[in-house]
Amino acid sequence: MSIVYNSSKKTFSLHTAGTTYQLKIGNLNYVKHLYYGARIPDEDLIYLVRRYDRGFSGNPYDSLKERTFSLDAQPQEFTTQQQGDFRINSIEVQNADGSFSFNGRYVSHQIYKGPFTLHGLPTAFADEQDTVDTLELTIEDSVSKVQVTLLYSVFEEKNIIMRAARVRNGGDGRISLKRIMSLNMDYLNGKDLDLISLPGRYGQERQIERQPLTHHVHKIRSGRGISSHQQNPFIALAERTATEDYGSAYGFALMYSGSFLAEVELDQYDQARLVMGINDRLFSYPVDPGQEFDTPAVLMTYTHKGLTKMSHTYHNFIRSNLNRSKFVRDVRRPVLINTWEAAFFNFDDEKLIEIAKAAKGMGVEMIVMDDGWFGKRDDDNSGLGDWYVNEKKIKCGLTELVRQINDLGMKFGIWFEPEMVSEDSDLFRAHPDWVMEIPGRHAVRSRNQLVLDVGRKEVQDYLIESVNRILDSANIYYVKWDINRAITDLWSNALTADEQGEVSHRYVLGLYRVMDGIIKTHPDIMFEGCAGGGGRFDTAMLTYFVQYWSSDNTKPLDNLKLHYGSSFLYPVCTMGAHVSEASPMVPFETKAAIAMCGTFGYELDATKMKKKEIRACKKMSELYHKYYDLNFFGDYYRLSNPFEQVNLVAWETVSKDRLEALVTVITVNLTVNGPQEYIKCKGLIADQYYQLERDGICLVTASGMALMHGGIPIPREILEFTAFLYHLKATSTGDGSHGSFDE
Ligand code: GLA
Repeated sequence: MSIVYNSSKKTFSLHTAGTTYQLKIGNLNYVKHLYYGARIPDEDLIYLVRRYDRGFSGNPYDSLKERTFSLDAQPQEFTTQQQGDFRINSIEVQNADGSFSFNGRYVSHQIYKGPFTLHGLPTAFADEQDTVDTLELTIEDSVSKVQVTLLYSVFEEKNIIMRAARVRNGGDGRISLKRIMSLNMDYLNGKDLDLISLPGRYGQERQIERQPLTHHVHKIRSGRGISSHQQNPFIALAERTATEDYGSAYGFALMYSGSFLAEVELDQYDQARLVMGINDRLFSYPVDPGQEFDTPAVLMTYTHKGLTKMSHTYHNFIRSNLNRSKFVRDVRRPVLINTWEAAFFNFDDEKLIEIAKAAKGMGVEMIVMDDGWFGKRDDDNSGLGDWYVNEKKIKCGLTELVRQINDLGMKFGIWFEPEMVSEDSDLFRAHPDWVMEIPGRHAVRSRNQLVLDVGRKEVQDYLIESVNRILDSANIYYVKWDINRAITDLWSNALTADEQGEVSHRYVLGLYRVMDGIIKTHPDIMFEGCAGGGGRFDTAMLTYFVQYWSSDNTKPLDNLKLHYGSSFLYPVCTMGAHVSEASPMVPFETKAAIAMCGTFGYELDATKMKKKEIRACKKMSELYHKYYDLNFFGDYYRLSNPFEQVNLVAWETVSKDRLEALVTVITVNLTVNGPQEYIKCKGLIADQYYQLERDGICLVTASGMALMHGGIPIPREILEFTAFLYHLKATSTGDGSHGSFDE
């Protein structure tokens, strides 16, 4: 059992292979947080929590004259409201009598096998080999009878704890949730912690920032209705001295695709508190007596072995516990070509066949028909919502087009943007009340489109029905699901005036229902997510999509940074990355090597390619397949930081048995007559010999120890933007001297 309850000490110890999380029913039945860190035995860590008479920090009434017990200074599992704790809080509830108060104390708990699930929200599942136990611990306000159940599923072998909170209105009047976080996480000492986050912008998603905690509230958030380009619902807290290979790091990934919030406060006593969950801005959620409200889940992990280890934990978990699609592990994903940057809206069935024919020679296995095939859609001003084939463009009809593509030996994929509507569309003309628009005001336009009220049942049913009709009409292998604007004008014509604070969250719940109705009912179709690039790339989306389009920015050098930042949470097999015509000075081989740090594909007009380029692409498509298992399932190591080191950028994937590895090095900016550069490998077996090859030529046979500590010398007399792919394969014989490096 990974969860141990000690009934005499009243401690709960949640053990994973490498970590322990401990909480305790403490004074006056408040639930205290005692520890999250490296694995320890089942001992009571209450000795860590010291109590002092803290001026201006009050004491609960029933602590009587005891002035050392103050909620303002004690570590807690979930916060109270208006009980003298002035730090950021995890709950704000307006009770049926109008008061704002919550004094949650332990009432019950249960422990059971398997992970928890949530009403209408995605969660992680247990893989065949996993041991997963769940603790549900309930605290209650004895006056309002509002209960919060704290949910913890411990994925023992995976070093992940999944958390969430469930509010139950046990009173007899309607309450209103103004803020309800998925977790509260207190640190006894936070002054040496850094906050790591993934900020960005359109075209530059998931850049990385690291900053020390200081005495104020650090806020990472999206208020855009989508998890956003500007921030990702992930943060890490790492010891200031933590590096890739050493030191403590805590990761928190929120499984939510709407407006979110993570706040971290370093308090007056240098304690830190983190809360994370749905953004409380424009949020007010009524809960009727007997009803429940679930928060989204957070995937949290801890390691004392550095940031690489944290990333590996997430990569392994995302690959095995979020998505049951056969395309995650069992069926290899094809090399695709997408028509967007090749033709934009300007194509017809003949052009698609031409592109498919030309792309075949590049080793492409699937053509994706992007935006522009439906309704009246010759630019981005019309047609969204009309999910039927535009027969002026696809003259032979979709079924026939797909048949012809299949006859070429190619698979077929298609693009949708289900959540949006153009004012110039049949759907809008028929249902103007289905858009989000506040009565008496005009909705904000963005890319000239409006947002459907996806929280509304009729809208969900329309989307499920109209998208499924297309999917079932032809042999479709792949879908790209896009959303191209942020969400504004929160209003639903289906809700009453006092329910409008639900709209943002209802949108997200509605979206998950629509995706259940389309994606889960088509297990043979491979779904990729997209939000004008990576504007809604999050762990909730990855329960539906096997991969996510990383960015509309296909410039290879920008992608070095984007992949680096993304890799802190997301594995290679989830990051859509294509070779395009952007940055003509960068050779195709280099673009392809960079795209192989994601799910490989092309985004260009194959009919316009030169023979030499076609041949280069074919070779790269073959390499994608050759290294597929290594890249998709191996351990990924960041070997350089492209934000700091600009001459060479390098990364490595190592097979799980550590007998094979691929090191990619890109030369970015070489100084004239510069020093000899070395790239040091990671993750190899120290006393194992490896043959180091480039382009099939053996350069040297060297031990793992030599390759990790001496490194690989990178040739200096070469052009910028050259890609070196070094393949390492274990060999039984090794004397450290064979190969062309000797000369
Ligand atoms: C978004 C996507 C692009 C493309 C266009 C189509 O910007 O990120 O890849 O699909 O929409 O309109």
